[in-house]
Amino acid sequence: MEQRPKNESYWNDTARQTNYPTLSADLEADIVIIGGGIVGVTTARLLADQGIRVVVLEAQKIGRQATGRSTAKVTSQHGLLYQKLEHKFNLGQALIYAEAQEYGLAEIRRLTEKYNIDCDLEQADAYTYTCLAEHRAELEKEAGLAGKLGLPASLVKDTELPFQVVGAVLYERQASFHPTRYVIGLAETLAQDGCEIYENSAVLEWEPNLVKTRSGSVKAKHVVMATHLPLGMVGGYYTRAFPDAEPVIAAPIKQKLTGMYINVETPSYSIRTHQHENGQTYAIVTGTRYKPGDTVAEQKNFADIENWLRQNFGAETISHRWTNEDYTSMDSAPFVGWSSTIGEDYLVATGFAGWGLTNGTAAAMMIRDLIMNKDNPWQELFNAKRIKPLAGGAKVLKESASVVANLAKGHLGTHPQVTEDLLPGEAGVRKYDGDKFAVYRDEEDQLHIVSAVCTHMGCVLGWNATDKTWDCSCHGSRFALDGTVLHGPAVEPLQRYR
Ligand SMILES: Cc1cc2nc3c(=O)[nH]c(=O)nc-3n(C[C@H](O)[C@H](O)[C@H](O)COP(=O)(O)OP(=O)(O)OC[C@H]3O[C@@H](n4cnc5c(N)ncnc54)[C@H](O)[C@@H]3O)c2cc1C
Ligand code: FES
Repeated sequence: MEQRPKNESYWNDTARQTNYPTLSADLEADIVIIGGGIVGVTTARLLADQGIRVVVLEAQKIGRQATGRSTAKVTSQHGLLYQKLEHKFNLGQALIYAEAQEYGLAEIRRLTEKYNIDCDLEQADAYTYTCLAEHRAELEKEAGLAGKLGLPASLVKDTELPFQVVGAVLYERQASFHPTRYVIGLAETLAQDGCEIYENSAVLEWEPNLVKTRSGSVKAKHVVMATHLPLGMVGGYYTRAFPDAEPVIAAPIKQKLTGMYINVETPSYSIRTHQHENGQTYAIVTGTRYKPGDTVAEQKNFADIENWLRQNFGAETISHRWTNEDYTSMDSAPFVGWSSTIGEDYLVATGFAGWGLTNGTAAAMMIRDLIMNKDNPWQELFNAKRIKPLAGGAKVLKESASVVANLAKGHLGTHPQVTEDLLPGEAGVRKYDGDKFAVYRDEEDQLHIVSAVCTHMGCVLGWNATDKTWDCSCHGSRFALDGTVLHGPAVEPLQRYR
């Protein structure tokens, strides 16, 4: 009988545990960084190199959130993004984006080598491909544009994939790695420079020079919000960067791919392989995006990538299934730098559109330069204060309409209406006396009941059947079965009833 897949990220499952202390004092530092993903830990490393004393506060465990749940391709190949950037901005801005990615990739290589980080960093070519003739012209355009931008890209006809493609854009000399081990390894270098990391230390309150957790605080010259999306209402990024969730699976397969692949059509398939310590090759595959909390799309998109992997790569068992989220900005470029439009409040980095490893590293380089009062030429594109209504108007309207629809109706009515109807393993949102409850009946027949109303801005939560979490379609907050915040921008837990 096929073993049940683990509902955990393959990367997190194959990385050692970290055990940093919980903040339990009132500290002072030069800079405090909220969030220990790739952005937070790389920023800490780069600031430490400048002799700056940093404190990193991580709500859970470092490296295990969006970063440790990704497919971990480290590449300047971002689908068809360069033509989008040229269209929404211009060729010069697309060039800035390309340069930032190449520097991000080089910086990951440099840090891995310098600190001898055990993270399986391997050189690999990256391909954007299509199996549909109607997309060939887009690929030709992307290859031509990438070439003009100085990227090592060219159009090819053949790949090692076990099916015929119509064409592909090949980016040479890119890389793949183990993301959780990379962040853990990089974090380990910080103590020698007098920097401190605290885990299980969620920041609940913040001001430009002071942050507070449940059991301590840190006063600093500046606060870096490396929390994937800035917390709460900071900078209003929740109205300008929009969340998507994606299914991810890992499975042992026979073929080791030398390249990393993503198609341009829908359904979407992105694949790379990783050599497990047990000697087996594992495929890591992600699929089509959907709105967080849309259980039907989640299940459909998982079934789709599982079938695709079985049919094309002969996968017999799926070992891991998990979901991940990322934010796409209204104009497709990330927001990095000083957050507010008045004054200089927080340093932020968000809107990586599924490509936050090179972008996140480039973001850390920009944040270092801003803190050091050094000009950074990439700010011309990434500037977090920019407002480009024309470049992103249609996306803003569409996303705002979906938030309004959620606030009006939520996910009510899509499941059986009474708690008694839920079978073990099922969940649903229920309305009693005008209040909305998120109810899950576990495999042992125990009910877990929390408020179904997101503590960020009141949207109704939806069920993530894979990770067993309550997820918010509006701005991407995620909550555990007991109501604990797993992902912002929310910081307040859900009211728990059972
Ligand atoms: C399915 C999928 C696959 C992807 N694959 C790739 C890929 O192959 N290549 C690529 O370049 N990008 C990829 N990405 C994108 C990439 O994973 C993200 O853009 C990137 O990891 C974001 O890094 P981060 O440091 O901003 O966020 P995170 O890694 O999530 O770090 C933020 C940290 O902040 C902490 N935090 C949040 N709130 C608080 C608080 N209140 N107090 C303290 N700490 C807090 C969190 O716990 C977390 O650890 C993928 C995304 C998805 C959805
Ligand atoms: S994340 Fe904003 S309302 Fe839920």
